[in-house]
Amino acid sequence: MLGQNSIHSFVDQHRLSLKLKPILVGELHLVKRLNKPAYIFRSGLFIPVINEGTTPSRDIISTLIKNSFHEVFVFDEDLTDIKKNLETALIKITRSLSVGDPIENGTKDIKLLSLNLAGLYRNPHNDELLMLQFQSSQNLSKFLMENKRLQPQFYESLNSENFHFTLAQPMLSSLMLLSFLQSIHLFHEKEMENLFLTSYLKDIGISMIPDNKYDLKTMSERDVVMFSSHADYSYDLLEGRVPLSKNYLTIVRNHHFLNHKIKDLALKRKSNKENDTILGIESTLVAVFDIIVAMTSRRPFRSERSMYQTLEVIKKIMADDYPQEFRALVVFLKQFYRN
Ligand SMILES: [Fe+2]
Repeated sequence: MLGQNSIHSFVDQHRLSLKLKPILVGELHLVKRLNKPAYIFRSGLFIPVINEGTTPSRDIISTLIKNSFHEVFVFDEDLTDIKKNLETALIKITRSLSVGDPIENGTKDIKLLSLNLAGLYRNPHNDELLMLQFQSSQNLSKFLMENKRLQPQFYESLNSENFHFTLAQPMLSSLMLLSFLQSIHLFHEKEMENLFLTSYLKDIGISMIPDNKYDLKTMSERDVVMFSSHADYSYDLLEGRVPLSKNYLTIVRNHHFLNHKIKDLALKRKSNKENDTILGIESTLVAVFDIIVAMTSRRPFRSERSMYQTLEVIKKIMADDYPQEFRALVVFLKQFYRN
C-alpha cells in the first residue's frame, strides 16, 4: 500500500516542501541507495513511499506508475546522485553500444536517453546535457539503422515502460520515423540520421512550460497558447547549439503544422493548404509520426485511438499531397506491428 506513514505536522510538511525536489518516477531506476526517504504528494501532503537506505524495487516503481504518480520527491543529495548515475550510465552505454548483445544494449540506451530528457527539461540551457543528448541520440540512430530488424522490439520495450508521455513520445515517434525512412529507400543515411535527431529534439521547448501543466485534464486558452508555442521554444533552444542545419531547425519550428488541418477537419472547415506544400515531405513525415504516436497513446485529457482511427485522420491530412508515401505508410505500419 502506498503512503502508509503520513506526516501530518504542518511545520514538518512545510520544511519538506522547502527541501524536496521533484523527479520523474522512472528516474528511480537510477537510484542505487536512497540517502533520505522518497515521497509522493497527495491531497496537499508529502507522504513517504520509499525508505532511506533502500533501493527502489521495480515493483514499487510500477505500482507508483499504475497509481498515476508520475512524480516523486527526493532530497537534493539524492537528486544529485540520480543525475550523476544517469549520465555515467548513458555515456557508458553510448560508447559500447555495438559491443555485446544488441537487444540488451539498444533497450538500455533508449530507456536511459529518454530518462535523461527529464534532466534537459529541468535545465534546458545546460550545453553539456544538450550535447550528451545530441551525441547519444546520433550514435543511437546509426545503431538503429544497423539493427533494422530489432526496431519494433525497441519501440515496444520503451512503450511498455509507461514513462510520462513527455519522455516517451520524442523517442517513440523518432524511432518509428527512422524505421519508415529506411523502408522507403528515398533518403541517404545522413539525411535519415538528421531527421531522426530533428524529430527527437523537436519537443525540448516543452521545458519552458511549467510541469504541472502537462497533466491537465482541461486547459485554459492561455495554456493552449503556451503549449502551441513549444515548437518555437524548441527552435530557440536548439539554434546555434546543435549541429543541425537551418532546414532541420525549420522542421522543428513547424512540427505541428498539420495539426491545424486536424482542427479544420474536426470543425468541418475548409483548410488553407498553401503553407503545407512549401514545407515538404520531410516536415510532413516528422509531423505524421508525431501524430501517429500521440493519437495511439493515452493522454490525461483523452483515451488512446485505434490505429484504424488514426490512419483515417492521417489519410485526410496527407494522402492528397503524398499518395504514394501514404500507401507506403499503411504497408509499413502493418509490418511494424506484426514484428
Ligand atoms: Fe510537439
